[in-house]
Amino acid sequence: MQGEIEVAGSKNAALPIMAASILANSSVRLRRVPRVDDVDTLCQVLAELGIDVSRDDEGEMLLETVDREPVRASYELVSRMRASFCVLGPLLARRKKAVVALPGGCNIGDRPVDMHLRGLSALGAQVKLESGYIVAEADRLRGAKVDLGGSRGPTVTGTANVLSAAVLAKGTTTIIGAAVEPEIVDLGNLLNQCGAKIEGLGQSIVQIHGVRQLQGADYEIIPDRIEAATLLIAAAITGGFVTVKNVRPEHLERVFVELAEAGMEIEKGPDWVSLRAEDRPHPINTTARPYPGMPTDVQPQLTALLSIARGQSTVTDRVFPNRFMHLAELNRLGASIERGNGAAAIDGARRLTGATVEASDLRGAAALVIAALAAEGETVVRNAEHLDRGYERLDEKLNRLGAKIQRCRQ
Ligand code: EPU
Repeated sequence: MQGEIEVAGSKNAALPIMAASILANSSVRLRRVPRVDDVDTLCQVLAELGIDVSRDDEGEMLLETVDREPVRASYELVSRMRASFCVLGPLLARRKKAVVALPGGCNIGDRPVDMHLRGLSALGAQVKLESGYIVAEADRLRGAKVDLGGSRGPTVTGTANVLSAAVLAKGTTTIIGAAVEPEIVDLGNLLNQCGAKIEGLGQSIVQIHGVRQLQGADYEIIPDRIEAATLLIAAAITGGFVTVKNVRPEHLERVFVELAEAGMEIEKGPDWVSLRAEDRPHPINTTARPYPGMPTDVQPQLTALLSIARGQSTVTDRVFPNRFMHLAELNRLGASIERGNGAAAIDGARRLTGATVEASDLRGAAALVIAALAAEGETVVRNAEHLDRGYERLDEKLNRLGAKIQRCRQ
């Protein structure tokens, strides 16, 4: 594969930022909102909650509250996308009550929300479970010390919920063990632009001085670092030379370290990165960890790449130790991967061969497409609609770089 391609705005930044529009007293204009299914789902949740959302084809979105009464996010939508849970904090803070369906497990593990709830309770909310819905209430939240750390933390969307709630609380909140992902920093920057007073973004201790109200804003979402990494890994597995544009290279440092260790040549400028692959990758041992570690959202794609490395690699996932549904499917393509405890032991195969495989989650689907690019012959990826949840037309972008991907009905 060869050529240049532009990366879309970040899905995981856009979702909590869209939810934060509930907090503002006037309209929020967002730029570079990715055209992905998860964003569409959140638009439906926000519509249920009295937010008028309009968008154009260029990724600009205008969110305006037209009705402050609704407080309920239905199970139908929350079960379709867990990130809908991001409306909990903003609803509670702005409308004094939130009734949000408890998300179930999903294909990358049994993802609990206990830390979100603990955080909101620490701010003075009454939180209970009623008929499968979390009901949270507070007349006015009070600033407090909120510890989101612990053995499993930090939590990304949990930090988003507590941050979004604390901005309107009375007094100062200190979050300890906050997630430091760029998407959280982006949410904090948007909130500050709306008039919030948040200090320490990007550090594990964040201070929020509550304000009485927030205004609207005009804000550009950061580039999607996971999409960028996915495109670079696709280039790597095909022995290609690809430049991705509209990226923040500083958000991808750990991914570059892994790719360089795997033998890839990386060059970067202020807002672009190019990758040149000369040969089969070298084997590496890598572990997915919270930012600035190797992202768990890149783990499946990297595993696909290492499936053709010249030797044995190990990929461990400390964030989601059960995020390995893609391994059996990669093996159907001729990979030789054994699943261990929260880890994959990969014996690099000389060649992969096309087959029918089945995707079960977003990044796993991307990993299968990446492996298919290197496989001899034709691969059919079933349930490929998972891709559209979080990638803006990944197939078309890859085709522009020389891949041959066709959408077909099952
Ligand atoms: N956890 C708990 N209790 C909680 C919350 C989390 O035990 O209350 C655990 C989780 O089970 C997991 C760890 O903490 O083991 C971290 O989970 P986190 O809460 O950070 O994940 P998340 O906020 O639900 C976001 C992204 C995911 C990404 C993770 C990790 C969004 C909308 N989702 O999920 O993105 O994998 O952070 O970086 O931002 C994706 O885009 O494909 C995706 C799954």
